[in-house]
Amino acid sequence: ETMPSLVGSEMCIRDRHIMDAKQFNRNMLRQIFLRSQEIMYSQQGGNSNNISSLLNGKVIGLLFYTPSSRTRCSFESAIKKLGGDTILLTPDTSSSQKGETVSDTLHTLDTYTDGLIVRSPNDITIQEFQNETENTIINAGDMLHHPSQALLDLFTIRQEKGTVNNLKFAIMGDLSHSRTIGSLVELLCNYNVEFYFIATHKLQINPAIIEYIENAQKHSSSTGYNISYFIHTENLEDDNVKKILKSVDVVYMTRLQKERWDTVITVENVKKYYLTKSLVNILKSNCLIMHPLPRNDEIPKEIDTDRRAIYFKQMKYGLYLRMALCELMFG
Ligand code: NCD
Repeated sequence: ETMPSLVGSEMCIRDRHIMDAKQFNRNMLRQIFLRSQEIMYSQQGGNSNNISSLLNGKVIGLLFYTPSSRTRCSFESAIKKLGGDTILLTPDTSSSQKGETVSDTLHTLDTYTDGLIVRSPNDITIQEFQNETENTIINAGDMLHHPSQALLDLFTIRQEKGTVNNLKFAIMGDLSHSRTIGSLVELLCNYNVEFYFIATHKLQINPAIIEYIENAQKHSSSTGYNISYFIHTENLEDDNVKKILKSVDVVYMTRLQKERWDTVITVENVKKYYLTKSLVNILKSNCLIMHPLPRNDEIPKEIDTDRRAIYFKQMKYGLYLRMALCELMFG
């Protein structure tokens, strides 16, 4: 009875790698969340009975080309808690300083390890490399995808609300450059969901994501999932937007990802898209305020003490979710 429920009997993921959120269906998600929950309970109860040591003797390589705090630390912690060990490589300490390509560096770390977690500087290298390795790779964030973040976001919602189904989401901040939003929307297309994309014109949701939603809508008669979306470029002082904020179940805020802006964007009145204490006051009493973090000024610190602000809890859920994921993929 100490055997993890996901392992052995029926693997819920047949793919060798985790590359993007499109890989998951409702059944896989349920299984991953159930296992994450089991892990969470035993971690919180301080008993390790239900924690496997599936990664005993295994070394997992972490290659992080762009900065990361939560993703890297939670994956490292997850692997160590499962009995495994990690090697971290970053460009400032690797041979990329000597002009080595990403692909050669990947190949090197792959040689010394039993699995890889990669935050790559582009999408192509990791896509290509997945066919060159016999190890499993988890994509820890590339240009467009951040599957493990989306999984932990959903796990958070499930734990806090009891379900991910039939919820209304206000998705805000820098929708255009946020890979966490892209992956989150893709995962949420496995449920009945209403999206309200609220951002200034230049930071609005990626057309490719809209296409993904519309495609999911087309298949709604076979999947049974009802998905709708609305785009709002008005700022948060607008009465229509306020009406939406009053009705949503989740506010998902993101920071302005300026380092990923390729042209100079002069964001008009961008502060008017930031959350304020008075806006939080109009949210439903059980609305969740989420953020993948790091945050800048879009959520003022005074909101942290509101019981609906769960972005720090979200970070904790990420550990349990990533333990389940590492167990499943590397175990
Ligand atoms: C995000 C990321 O790296 O995409 N952070 C995270 O993984 N928790 C969001 C961001 O950088 O703003």
